[in-house]
Amino acid sequence: MEAREVQLNPLFAEIVQTLLTIVDGAEMYPRGHYKRMAALCVKLAEKIGLPPIEAAAVNLAALLHDIGMVYVPTDIIHKNGELTEDEMLVVRQHPGMSVKILANLSPLQSILPLIRHHHEAFDGSGYPDGLAGDRIPMGARIIHVVESFLVMAVPRPYRPPKSVTVVLNELEKNKGIFFDGRLVDEFVRLMGQKMDAPAQTTAAQSHGPAAPPPKPAEEGLKPEEIAKEIFEQVKRGKIELPVLPNIIQEIQTAIDNPNTTSDDLARIVEKDAIISIRLMSTANSPIYMGQYKVRSIREAIPRIGFKETRNIVSVIVSKNMFQAKSKEYVKWMEILWAHSLASAYGARLLADHLRYMDPEKYFLMGLVHDIGKVLIIKSISENPLWQNRLERSQVEKVMQIAHNSLGGVILRHWKFPKEFFEVATSHEGPKFFETTGRAILVVHLASQMASALGNGYLKETVDLAELDSAKRLKLDAATLTALSERIKTIMADSAKSF
Ligand SMILES: [Fe+2]
Ligand SMILES: [Fe+2]
Ligand SMILES: [Fe+2]
Repeated sequence: MEAREVQLNPLFAEIVQTLLTIVDGAEMYPRGHYKRMAALCVKLAEKIGLPPIEAAAVNLAALLHDIGMVYVPTDIIHKNGELTEDEMLVVRQHPGMSVKILANLSPLQSILPLIRHHHEAFDGSGYPDGLAGDRIPMGARIIHVVESFLVMAVPRPYRPPKSVTVVLNELEKNKGIFFDGRLVDEFVRLMGQKMDAPAQTTAAQSHGPAAPPPKPAEEGLKPEEIAKEIFEQVKRGKIELPVLPNIIQEIQTAIDNPNTTSDDLARIVEKDAIISIRLMSTANSPIYMGQYKVRSIREAIPRIGFKETRNIVSVIVSKNMFQAKSKEYVKWMEILWAHSLASAYGARLLADHLRYMDPEKYFLMGLVHDIGKVLIIKSISENPLWQNRLERSQVEKVMQIAHNSLGGVILRHWKFPKEFFEVATSHEGPKFFETTGRAILVVHLASQMASALGNGYLKETVDLAELDSAKRLKLDAATLTALSERIKTIMADSAKSF
């Protein structure tokens, strides 16, 4: 049918993209508003079981429904205050104007009713035709719910963005009035929120023109509020913590058992093809290469040793967790990954140099010390209100505020020893005390060394020997330089094996 053909035809896709540029150019909403909205509409359509062809129609209608706004004078669109009766009349023309603009594109015929009726209210009080209930096309009802949600959630000149919980409450309150109640229920479920915050505002104002215009989103997304919201969602179990995969636990148990043979360990590792392959290529990499090439996990494990096997498996599994779904954040995850790995090597070298027992433990501490950042990147990249809308500095601020305690939450969840938990929550420094545990000092220093080598976020140069942690560990500049050089070499080697 039409909707699908529209999507498959490349020329038409280009036309739609061009029209979308025009809609976005009206600057009623932050750039990307319509794409974000369309994506959510499709999810809702799928959730209520609309066939793919209708979901595709909703997608297109969501992208283009406001194109008629180009006929509304910008001083009305951007008016900072209530609209007069006359101005409202102008605004109410826009669904009709959208239809008029698109009417000559034959593949779009099927979506015109969705566009015409996107401001109808469920009780019949909307415009342009005052349709009520089931007489409003389902796609139009979907657009109304989703767009109202997004519009309330963006910042306004006179108020910060409302939290997701508050906005969803607002939708709840207007079930059967503005919105189809069943859609609201499904949408609330889709957003995975509980309705436990009190509603604070008056009637839901459907999008745009009737309310003062939103400014571009960037200025209102306060890192403090994002951090707070992430905490709230974690507390309510709405953001899933990365799970420590069973295989790591199995491997740990096996290694801790003195009776485990390398065959036993191989049997566990072999359950996961990807881990097996990586482990073998590590055994055959320049760091471990022996006289002959190993061809099985059974041969690989004795060569690299039990503890190193555990490390390599942790590295592989945690690297998987460092992958973000949305492309924009892949870069973040890569930096995070390199920083964690370099910190892990640094912590192990430091522990070795200081002749601490069990340098492997320090390796693992370095690897997970910033795990809270992984959760933050994951949350931001998966939240339609935040993704692609935060400046680098805002993301960094959220991390600065929240990564330590979130890291603690995750490690406790994973049942890591208390010492790991302390490292996650207290490694930032820069000041430490007589009583500060040496694991915290080592990881702080390792993390700074990693960043100084370019594996991190902070670009300003630090004098490693001047750090409180370095002084307390009694490490001089020459030693730190030598150790940094070794981290650099190991990182370069490991880039080949992972
Ligand atoms: Fe509209
Ligand atoms: Fe950190
Ligand atoms: Fe760090």
